[in-house]
Amino acid sequence: MEAAPPNFHFHDLQPAPEDFHTDVIAGLSRQTKRLSPKFFYDELGSQLFDAITRLPEYYPTRTEIGLLHRYGEDMARMLGNDGLLFELGSGSGTKIRVLLEAIQPQTYAPIDISRETLRMSAGAIAQDHPTLEVHAICTDYSKPLELSGFFDVQQRAVFFPGSSIGNFDPTQARDLLRRIAKLLGPDGRLLIGVDLKKAPALLHSAYNDNQGVTAKFNQNLLTRINRELDADFDVAAFRHEAFYNEKLGRVEMHLFATAPQHVRIDGCCFEFQAGESIHTENSYKFSIEEFQTLAAQAGLASLRVWQDDDALFSVHCLRPI
Ligand code: AVJ
Repeated sequence: MEAAPPNFHFHDLQPAPEDFHTDVIAGLSRQTKRLSPKFFYDELGSQLFDAITRLPEYYPTRTEIGLLHRYGEDMARMLGNDGLLFELGSGSGTKIRVLLEAIQPQTYAPIDISRETLRMSAGAIAQDHPTLEVHAICTDYSKPLELSGFFDVQQRAVFFPGSSIGNFDPTQARDLLRRIAKLLGPDGRLLIGVDLKKAPALLHSAYNDNQGVTAKFNQNLLTRINRELDADFDVAAFRHEAFYNEKLGRVEMHLFATAPQHVRIDGCCFEFQAGESIHTENSYKFSIEEFQTLAAQAGLASLRVWQDDDALFSVHCLRPI
């Protein structure tokens, strides 16, 4: 491996393996079993997610990147140059590369829970942008963000693409947005991608793709639990299914046990009846107004919204009230 470039800094606050263990045991001990979608992103999970973003049925990534290309200059003007730009859930780094064609921050601080993916993608960005200071931070951004110690007070912006805000229930989403507002300070700006409500059939195919990549992504969570927590899930006996829950305005992903199963996880035993589900992800969808209302409740006022011609996806710029 090549030596890290001098403008690249890595801060490892990755959650301890015990956190994964505790969360999994707690989630599977509930009346309705669930696992947190933040655990999808081990190395294979990150690769599978990347493959999802290239699927013909999965419109969000390509649509958002289209908006970044088309309106990047406007977005850059609203965020301002020379400041500190955070990114929540930077993943493979594809989106920030598009934004960096229009904006010149002094410092780029990508935050991601997946350590090796972050190290690789942020290191490559540092290499390709030698005048940009890159401070990569491996942490779980759904927990309180303790980042102030790393950076001086300066013009701040947060880029939160992908509609990952949709992974959070409204209460948690408000909490997270409030914490982002605090991180921004009074003059900061949030640039956030928000997936829009649309015909349920389109949502259904985006989350139940023909090639079965999303199914693999979902099932990989059990493979990861087997490997990292010494468990014995029969992964093939869990079927992927995603559906739009119209009442709650969210796509739900589940793994359904196709037959009864006993699963041992590090000495604990879990029973699954045939047809029982593990709820692995919510992906909330919003109208523009619904998102603006949620953001306002978290102390963020809308400055501008961009959307594609087919109204599939939106990008909002907001500021603390
Ligand atoms: C990364 C959370 C935005 O909810 O669309 C893709 C994850 N799950 N296909 C989404 C995902 C299934 C994605 N987010």
